[in-house]
Amino acid sequence: MPPSSLHRSLGFGLGVRPTHYDALLGERKGSVSWLEALTENYLLPGGKPLHYLERLRAEYPIVLHGVSLSIGSTDPLNETYLREVKALADRVEPAWISDHLCWTGVDGVNLHDLMPLPFTEAALKHVVSRIEAVQERLGRRLVLENVSSYVSFSRCDMTEWDFLREVAERADCHLLLDVNNVYVSSVNHGFDPLAYLSGIPVERVQQFHLAGHRNMGDYLIDTHDEPVCEAVWQLLQAAIERFGPLSTMIERDDNIPELDALLAELDRARAIAASAQRSKSAA
Ligand SMILES: [Fe+2]
Repeated sequence: MPPSSLHRSLGFGLGVRPTHYDALLGERKGSVSWLEALTENYLLPGGKPLHYLERLRAEYPIVLHGVSLSIGSTDPLNETYLREVKALADRVEPAWISDHLCWTGVDGVNLHDLMPLPFTEAALKHVVSRIEAVQERLGRRLVLENVSSYVSFSRCDMTEWDFLREVAERADCHLLLDVNNVYVSSVNHGFDPLAYLSGIPVERVQQFHLAGHRNMGDYLIDTHDEPVCEAVWQLLQAAIERFGPLSTMIERDDNIPELDALLAELDRARAIAASAQRSKSAA
């Protein structure tokens, strides 16, 4: 197993979607520093998706981001899925592999959603042992993302950020901090997003996600179908001041605009990173 040091920052990237393949390989080649590919879209050997991923890989560093690991479930690990992910990783050599700190099903039923874990000592022990097993199978450290949530469990022994810290330290894995998810959950559960950031260990965070959500009045839904909102940009500034200019990217999964609109949002992220670095040096 390689040592648990973080990969260097890849700069500013995008979650790659099929509608932008041609632009990223053609007239907008080099407009981003790296791409995050959704693991499940490329698991079939051969075929058009993998053909495009290999062409993109020839031009950009790639990170694989999955939604099916279900690391928190009580079902057995899906060994077929893990073998497929390993084969894909051997083929495209991603900078790292990420998934979510969540569960997506139980008793063989797939809920097709990223469900939160109870923040208890028992859940911690359970998920840490599964992360260790997955890291052994993949031969590399996992990067796990905080999910947004809408309900919480009646029994919790610790805060979400304490849970994330304990997971990362005990399993010796890394974290993907989704800044939008922190904000969405902070509104839905009424916690201070800055307290969340302060509780996450700097040396464990590999990457930032940015995305848009939908405001439903008294709660927020993590929809990835709108531009990043003002409050999330402000939280990104605080995140960069704490964690440094980590690999940063925008996820857009619905209502996907022209590539140039996403590139304009990335320019905003670059400007915020420059401003956060300036205020850090001034301090
Ligand atoms: Fe995310």
